[in-house]
Amino acid sequence: MIKIGIIGCGSIAEFGHIPAIQKVAGLQLYALYDRDFSRAYQMQRQFQIPHAYPTEEEFFSSGIEAVIVCTPAPIHYKNVMDAAKYRKHVLCEKPLGMNEEEMVEMEKVMKNAGRMLFTGFNYRFSQSAKDIHRLIREKAIGEVRLLRLIYNWHLHGKWHWNENGERVDSELRVGRMIEGGPMVDCGVHQIDLARWWLDSEVVWQQGIGVWLDDYEAPDHMYLHMAHNCGAHTMVEMSFSYNTTSKEHRTNFQYEIIGTDGVIRYNREEHSFELRNSHGTQYLPWHPEKSFTGMYEELLKALQNETPGDMPTADDGIIATKIAKTATDQAIRERDNPSTVCPSTKVKAEVGRLYDKEVPMDFVD
Ligand SMILES: NC(=O)c1ccc[n+]([C@@H]2O[C@H](COP(=O)([O-])OP(=O)(O)OC[C@H]3O[C@@H](n4cnc5c(N)ncnc54)[C@H](O)[C@@H]3O)[C@@H](O)[C@H]2O)c1
Repeated sequence: MIKIGIIGCGSIAEFGHIPAIQKVAGLQLYALYDRDFSRAYQMQRQFQIPHAYPTEEEFFSSGIEAVIVCTPAPIHYKNVMDAAKYRKHVLCEKPLGMNEEEMVEMEKVMKNAGRMLFTGFNYRFSQSAKDIHRLIREKAIGEVRLLRLIYNWHLHGKWHWNENGERVDSELRVGRMIEGGPMVDCGVHQIDLARWWLDSEVVWQQGIGVWLDDYEAPDHMYLHMAHNCGAHTMVEMSFSYNTTSKEHRTNFQYEIIGTDGVIRYNREEHSFELRNSHGTQYLPWHPEKSFTGMYEELLKALQNETPGDMPTADDGIIATKIAKTATDQAIRERDNPSTVCPSTKVKAEVGRLYDKEVPMDFVD
């Protein structure tokens, strides 16, 4: 049994990581640490975990082999540095770090410690995401030309009511907007999927922001990416999608469009289908994330001391860098609007990068 510890016992640890680790034979969730000890203690009792420690020293010295970092993004750097000091493998929640400099250092320090650092891109392990990966390789829709990846979310609403019955801004939403907004917080998953599905790096990108609320980062934004293989990805992310509605509704979908058809996945409608010149195939639908699938792969990586199919630190750095750059591009464009409309800029840039123009249906 490989002993695992979790640092940061908040909502994603409770609903995602802890139940998933406990489902994987071969892994033992052995130790917990949270800066708020009552939280670690509560999780220990709820899930019958052997140890919850009040100090990081006790946690890291408990005999665990790997650490799962589930703290807020600004703490990831410190947690990974500490884990390297104690020579533990790390699976770190996304976004890997707050900026490129700290992420590169995290990767380097872990490498020097002879330990693996993984990024928690659990979307890759959904059976539907794996099916899309396979269908693309089987050329089920011919050559892939366009990915439309959309997650428009209300983030549980703009307001909450406090104990005095007053309406206040939701702390959850404010925190995530301050940490970088929807592209950095959630869009990194979609960016990672696009790179993984296409097995092709991003050679050009443009972020376009829309502000429904007045945070520094846009609360609704678009990211356009041109891949080395000639395909184009459009990611649309929102934390402001009907946030004030009495009844919230989310829009989460993938469309992968090729020269012979389309793969369509819709989370809310539980639909997943392949349409091509042979006909239509309705595929079994699965949720967009799989923590269990990720931990099955982590077990193999720890047993073999090799990353295998786990998303690496590099995957985390690239996705976070793209998301942050896109967000910064959008903010710059708001502060200093250019006279050229973004779609015109796209055409000019793509013309420079490719001999033949990449087909993109939003270019005039
Ligand atoms: N992969 C996904 O699908 C997914 C979904 C949601 C959140 N996340 C990511 O998971 C991470 C945590 O998110 P969350 O929603 O669980 O947050 P949360 O606020 O619910 O939990 C964070 C926990 O970390 C603890 N903590 C804070 N500072 C600490 C420190 N210095 N040392 C130890 N513990 C500390 C807090 O006390 C809290 O219990 C974030 O990076 C977030 O982006 C990932």
